[in-house]
Amino acid sequence: MLTPTILIAEADVRRRVAELARQIEADYAGADEIILIGVLRGAFIFLADLSRELGVPHRVDFIALASYDEGTESTGVVRLIMDLRTNITGRHVLVIEDIVDTGYTIEYLERTLAARQPASLKACALLRKLERRQVDVKIDYLGFDIPDVWVVGYGLDFADRFRTLPYIGVITPPPA
Ligand code: PRP
Repeated sequence: MLTPTILIAEADVRRRVAELARQIEADYAGADEIILIGVLRGAFIFLADLSRELGVPHRVDFIALASYDEGTESTGVVRLIMDLRTNITGRHVLVIEDIVDTGYTIEYLERTLAARQPASLKACALLRKLERRQVDVKIDYLGFDIPDVWVVGYGLDFADRFRTLPYIGVITPPPA
């Protein structure tokens, strides 16, 4: 069925994003500036909202990765589609993800970005599916743990659809 049902309502998403912003502000209170790195494409809406909530100095940059191609299963091979513009050496970096599923994407980013020697490197994800995790990755700021269902909306897609829904919805993808 391709009509999403609501898993996390718009007001609950908004409230949690504000809470995460308060937590991040407290932790980075002494930092001169944070570089928020949005992982395209899924994180673009979460990053836009979080960034506007955040009352500490920060810049925004993007990196584009892919591991799912057109299918619904991670291939485990993460491809770099577009790199950052910012030189992150010596900077405080906070990676912003919409969802951590197998963990391969965050693991790839940790490895790749740590090699550039930032002053600090942390991760923030709106959603996490613990049941699907293949690699042990640390999420410093987490919005919600969710069950192993296909989620759409608030940046998340199914075959590039549903990204602009204001809530997190669930669909049942048709068999491949
Ligand atoms: C999704 C999501 C994360 C990644 C998480 O991206 O936005 O980046 O998968 O999955 P993982 O933990 O199993 O690596 P996707 O490849 O679907 O691209 P998109 O963001 O452009 O939709």
